[in-house]
Amino acid sequence: MALGFRGDVADYYHRYRRGYPPEALDVVVDVFGLTPDDVAVDLGCGTGQVTVPLATRVRAVVGVDPEPDMLAHGRRAAAERGVANVSWVVGTDADVPALRAALGDGSVGAVTIGQALHWMRHDDLFREASSLVRPGGGVAVLTNGTPLWLQDADWSRALRAFLEEWLGAPAGGACGTDEESRSRYRRSLADAGFRVDVHGVDYTDTLDVESVVGGVLSALPADRLPADRPTFADRIRRALEPHAPFTEHVHVTVLTGTGPTA
Ligand SMILES: C[S@@+](CC[C@H](N)C(=O)[O-])C[C@H]1O[C@@H](n2cnc3c(N)ncnc32)[C@H](O)[C@@H]1O
Repeated sequence: MALGFRGDVADYYHRYRRGYPPEALDVVVDVFGLTPDDVAVDLGCGTGQVTVPLATRVRAVVGVDPEPDMLAHGRRAAAERGVANVSWVVGTDADVPALRAALGDGSVGAVTIGQALHWMRHDDLFREASSLVRPGGGVAVLTNGTPLWLQDADWSRALRAFLEEWLGAPAGGACGTDEESRSRYRRSLADAGFRVDVHGVDYTDTLDVESVVGGVLSALPADRLPADRPTFADRIRRALEPHAPFTEHVHVTVLTGTGPTA
């Protein structure tokens, strides 16, 4: 299954999607007691925003994503940072049973999912993951702020109005960052036998116009992006410019489901 994270969308994603603050990775490491002996699985790893920093904290990470273009960027980003302990695997959440067969039950310290759970069958996934993780390990669901066009700021409202006019349709959903999705994921983790905790990391950032444009281009599926990307990008710039600076309050969430300790 391919969702459009390919070609130049993958390039934009790699270039403009921000990584996670180190405190968010600290939560994953601390809650599951990850050590350099652990193996982790990062599902929907994309270009490696969670995968690469996590790999510096554990023995090895399996990064899984259905889009080869995203994986290719992740592989290069890891190589540039001297990170050599990631296996970049084409696959989806539906491949977790096969991963369980390959790695063994109780073999994994953490299964992480960064900004990708809304494309997965989370009930099935959490059930499978509960057997895959070792005692005290678990599942971490990360979100990385509110989509650029859904923020409570004039520049974001202007961006949303422009996108809706251009696309002739709503600009896109909250991608699992909304409270309703989070409570659904919490219940589902608890039903799969995990102890659930919610953690947040907040910071403020000011983006330049190219980062907002690149962020939008990275977020729309390739088949929704107009063929004339330069004109589209230019129209976004024009819609945004009266509303500079583009300050955003980024609320990162880490939902952790910890398995039984014995
Ligand atoms: C928004 S990106 C997130 C990338 C990265 N994890 C992050 O936190 O920025 C979502 C990724 O999920 C992948 N994806 C979509 N459906 C998936 C599925 N069913 N299983 C695994 N990954 C999936 C997409 O190809 C894309 O690379």
